Amino acid sequence: MEKIRIDKILSKSGYGSRNDAKGIIKKGRVSVEGKTVRSANDKADPEKVFVDGIKVNYKEFIYLVLNKPKGVVSATDDNVHRTVIDLIDEKYLTYEPFPVGRLDIDTEGLLLITNDGQLGHNMLSPKKHVDKTYYAELLNPLSIEDKEKIEKGVDIGGYVTQPCSIEILENGVNITIHEGKFHQVKKMFEAVGNKVVYLKRITFGPLTLPESLPLGEYTEIEKPQV
Ligand code: URA
Repeated sequence: MEKIRIDKILSKSGYGSRNDAKGIIKKGRVSVEGKTVRSANDKADPEKVFVDGIKVNYKEFIYLVLNKPKGVVSATDDNVHRTVIDLIDEKYLTYEPFPVGRLDIDTEGLLLITNDGQLGHNMLSPKKHVDKTYYAELLNPLSIEDKEKIEKGVDIGGYVTQPCSIEILENGVNITIHEGKFHQVKKMFEAVGNKVVYLKRITFGPLTLPESLPLGEYTEIEKPQV
């Protein structure tokens, strides 16, 4: 592996901020190939760095699946509302994570949070046609005619949506779309005179929201393959 500054290696191995890392180095707890590290500026192969004799577990990227609750915004900072990043433990903040795409403030469910910009770009790229499935509860039951209209494509204010699929359930619907316009799902049901009263994303490309994951909680996953 390429050589990286040792304070950076520690902070991306779960040892806190770059400053915390400097403190650990000062205490003489860090070694590379048997030699105690004295300067945070030194560079090393992450595979060869030990803290208290234990090899560090360095990661360049993190991938978190969050079950977003209502009331938080899909942003890294906001002057008014809490953000999804406020729900993430401090130990991950050194990675400078951001949400991949947006869910509305009142939408719940699967949000990917990462610091891997390339992966984020791929997940959102219109060229990749990444599927997203939402569970929606509606003000009025969805007729078969309206289901078919939406599946074929509806005008959501100057844009006609691409074909999608809808499954009618007992109390709502699952809708799978391959694009991601602003407020898209809500606008698609509005286009047939209906209204979304509850919205939750349950899949995003290869990712599925774990049923056991409580609202506001997240789980670290391996890099998604897209
Ligand atoms: N479509 C919407 O209308 N809102 C969301 O949050 C996501 C998709």
